[in-house]
Amino acid sequence: MKSMRKLNVPDTSGSSQTEPDAADTPEMSIARPPLRGKRQVRQTRILAVTSGKGGVGKTNVVANLAASLTEMGMRVVVLDADFGLANIDVLLGLAPRFHLGHVLYGKKKLAEIMVEGPCGIRIIPASSGLQRLSELSLEQREYLVRSFAELEGDADFLLIDTAAGISSNVLHFLLSAPEVVVVSAPEPTAIVDAYAVIKIVLAADPAKTIRVLINSVSDEKESLEVFRQINSVVKRFLNREVSYLGHVERDPHVVKAVRGQVLVTHSYPGAPASRCFRKLAGEVVQQNGPAGAADAFVWEKLLNHWIN
Ligand SMILES: Nc1ncnc2c1ncn2[C@@H]1O[C@H](COP(=O)(O)OP(=O)(O)OP(=O)(O)O)[C@@H](O)[C@H]1O
Ligand SMILES: [Mg+2]
Repeated sequence: MKSMRKLNVPDTSGSSQTEPDAADTPEMSIARPPLRGKRQVRQTRILAVTSGKGGVGKTNVVANLAASLTEMGMRVVVLDADFGLANIDVLLGLAPRFHLGHVLYGKKKLAEIMVEGPCGIRIIPASSGLQRLSELSLEQREYLVRSFAELEGDADFLLIDTAAGISSNVLHFLLSAPEVVVVSAPEPTAIVDAYAVIKIVLAADPAKTIRVLINSVSDEKESLEVFRQINSVVKRFLNREVSYLGHVERDPHVVKAVRGQVLVTHSYPGAPASRCFRKLAGEVVQQNGPAGAADAFVWEKLLNHWIN
């Protein structure tokens, strides 16, 4: 009988609900990967990746986009802002010891809780501590803002993997990030829910930069058709437009990679989905972020949105 591969799952036994143990020993902080070539992007672009319907591929998009951006020489940090179980740690077979809660309570620095994933992606593990931000003291808030501001100059991209749907928590992340990527699948239910998210975000911030990514399609033609449907409803009912970011093909290699807790772009670089992710990364780099996307104010705004 074939032996089962051991599933590497993070230990969540109450860790995220309780104040981190003061006896936790320090871990080595993760040094930033070196930049290739001479290009130096000083400002951090912050992209929140979301969807209306769950399970459309957000976490896979975030992880593989991060890997592809890293391969291009970008320094990428992923913030896991999905407090559910099927999160990025599990996807990548990582078992982080610490999480953002340890930073909130001053037990660790941000650099100390980050775990290194494939290709040098740095991941800030989720913590339900984030859901309790309103309970933080002023000092804790300021410390958190300062911690994140330190990423500036140390990361070219911060990708935020959000939970599906439009809970107030998710909305905080979407409103605080200068760029929002809405992932949809070609199914009508996913399209309707993608529109619902776009509507809510634009109602709260009409100037928000929203890009749409269609996952699990057979080709670009199908993707453009799905995008056209979403955009035409946005135009008709909201009198606005969203832009097209690109597509990822439906590819059994993605499923295989998920089962093996590896990244498709890393383990199957020649797979159709991997080619799509590389193309997407190129698009993201080429499409500049909104002007003034990452001045110091953005970090304050990011944190203030979470807190208030
Ligand atoms: N391009 C693709 N081709 C084939 N299967 C895919 C593709 N993208 C995602 N999947 C499948 O969909 C599953 C869900 O993907 P993922 O966990 O990234 O979705 P999610 O939107 O983050 O879900 P949740 O809303 O629960 O956070 C994957 O485990 C994989 O099996
Ligand atoms: Mg997910």
